[in-house]
Amino acid sequence: MAEIQKLEALEILDSRGNPTLAVTVTLNDGVKATAKLPSGASTGKREAVELRDGDKTRYGGKGVRKACAYVEGEIQSAVRGMDSGDQAALDARLCSLDGTPNKVRLGANAILGVSLAAARAAALERGVPLYAYLGNGTEFLLPTPMLNVLNGGRHADNSVDFQEYMVSPVGAPSFQEGLRSAVETFYALKSILHAEGLSTAVGDEGGFAPQLKSNEQAVEVILEAIHKAGYKAGEDIAVMLDPAASEFIDNGSYVFAKSDNSRRSPSEMIAFYKDWLQRYPEIWSLEDGMGEEDRAGWQQITKELGDRIQLVGDDNFVTNAALFREGIRDHIANAILIKLNQIGTVTETLECIAIAKGNGYGAVISHRSGETDDTSIADLAVATRVGQIKTGSASRGERIAKYNRLLEIERELGTKARYAGATPYTRWTGSHKPAEALVK
Ligand code: PGA
Ligand code: ZN
Repeated sequence: MAEIQKLEALEILDSRGNPTLAVTVTLNDGVKATAKLPSGASTGKREAVELRDGDKTRYGGKGVRKACAYVEGEIQSAVRGMDSGDQAALDARLCSLDGTPNKVRLGANAILGVSLAAARAAALERGVPLYAYLGNGTEFLLPTPMLNVLNGGRHADNSVDFQEYMVSPVGAPSFQEGLRSAVETFYALKSILHAEGLSTAVGDEGGFAPQLKSNEQAVEVILEAIHKAGYKAGEDIAVMLDPAASEFIDNGSYVFAKSDNSRRSPSEMIAFYKDWLQRYPEIWSLEDGMGEEDRAGWQQITKELGDRIQLVGDDNFVTNAALFREGIRDHIANAILIKLNQIGTVTETLECIAIAKGNGYGAVISHRSGETDDTSIADLAVATRVGQIKTGSASRGERIAKYNRLLEIERELGTKARYAGATPYTRWTGSHKPAEALVK
């Protein structure tokens, strides 16, 4: 296997115009690959740390020149000569070189850039696509996409408290057909909003960000759009939510500060969700329904709703195996959101996915609200066969790049391509119940 010969890092821009890194790994046989890194806005408190320069004279302090310098200096010296195909050894070296539990010294951005670019280079070197390199090479599953068609919370300057309202083509026969039905729903939503005199400008993840009257109106217009596009809500297309509740928790209460200023205790918040699920059975998945530090609230919602819908932990688990294991032991959530840059290496990301699978938890591969044209997460989803990806709406090039990559993969796989469809949710929609937590 070829050795890592050279690392280069360039300060580039993400989809919000904020600086991020493009890291290029060159192997000793000349093979070269680049990874470009995403960046979140509604970040979990315990995410691995993204290193920013803090020099207010450049990009308001958001520059990443220090992280670039670490890649080309200290990290390059430590990994030069390592086998590019031994991802676990490389990632272990990166973690020990950093020496902190949250990668605060060298930066999770610097570290992930090297980890992911090395994986991309190793795949190229072997002459296989990234999805084949990261997976077992023989079994693949095209994920069911979650398209975030209505943006609120911290991702949009509007009156909607919940961050993400997604449509997911669970009833489609293939990724291509599923994507089409979700995109047609996006068109229908645009025309409905337009007809009502509402804005069709888009938020950070490419969904519309209209000034709706309430959080509930967002669900109503989406259901109307699914119908208008000619699909059946809850059969062809399910609705999925990411309220990102950590962002609207204030002193232990959940406050809808953007819409009506109403306040709810954790129990009242759960009652609110229950009422929605009763009235909108088309909602199949709820991410970060409770705040990341509201352990009791998370336990209660899991107890009350965990056998009815998918409950995804994002801000509380932050793709961190230790936090995830703790959550499983505490009977929190029944699925995990997977973001490479929350933890900072490919190996640790794969570990979280393995823990999810071993414990009957679902896993959703995810983009960040700040993205680039890097498409690695599309390959990661296919390779790990988790069956779910959320990577934005049907607009904005950095989101579309991932969907286009999945279309390419589906075609490349030909008859070997299988589409997840409703299978990740059958445990809640059918008689199958989640497996008892095992934790390994
Ligand atoms: P972020 O949000 O990328 O802005 O952190 C995405 C999410 O909460 O899922
Ligand atoms: Zn989230």
